Amino acid sequence: MEPIVLTHPLVKHKLAILRDKKSGTKEFRELATELSTMLCYEATKDAPLYEAEIETPIGKTKVEKLNEDHYAFLPILRAGMGMLDGVLNIIPNAKVGHIGLFRNEDTLEPTQYYFKVPSGIEERTVIILDPMLATGGSACDAIASVKKIGVKNIKFLCIISAPEGIARIQKEHPDVQIYTTSVDEKLNEKGYIVPGLGDAGDRIFGTK
Ligand code: PRP
Ligand code: URA
Repeated sequence: MEPIVLTHPLVKHKLAILRDKKSGTKEFRELATELSTMLCYEATKDAPLYEAEIETPIGKTKVEKLNEDHYAFLPILRAGMGMLDGVLNIIPNAKVGHIGLFRNEDTLEPTQYYFKVPSGIEERTVIILDPMLATGGSACDAIASVKKIGVKNIKFLCIISAPEGIARIQKEHPDVQIYTTSVDEKLNEKGYIVPGLGDAGDRIFGTK
């Protein structure tokens, strides 16, 4: 499956400011939130709707509604938390789980330190959130963990992706659709995305 890359001018504009090293923590958080809302908007394009009848102040009418409860967002800690407000802005009744992963700086392999997901997750559409898809190690570990407990419908939302990470998800999890606002050039020798935006977690939380 090819990644779905958002090309709307507003996405490009906001991503440009997000990448800029001069953008501070407040601006970075706000832009990550806005871009996540747009990614979620695109990722729910195929959402099933059910018919309901409501009454407007003028009269009765049939409407179509989305079962928000059918969705679960799973941010990959820490940086994925920077996307959560953005997706909950448009699906506020979705469930939320957390997957704790960090990349070993030398091997670039992920280590899982936390996994807590809502009950009945196997029946839901699970949307995994992580702003950065670099080698794809963290994303594939998170996807494998939710598949292991029976989840079948999985989407992966990231703000910036590298070709290496996309290729890895396509190889290990060809059923998972990736949504991103940019496919960047490459990874550098330290596994950072080029040109990227630096360390997403550090910029969201103002760590450094
Ligand atoms: C970053 C990022 C991804 C991961 C991507 O997290 O948020 O989770 O690296 O790299 P990969 O595709 O090569 O696995 P990091 O491990 O630095 O943890 P943090 O979110 O706590 O900063
Ligand atoms: N994680 C980040 O935060 N940034 C990168 O460029 C790669 C991994």
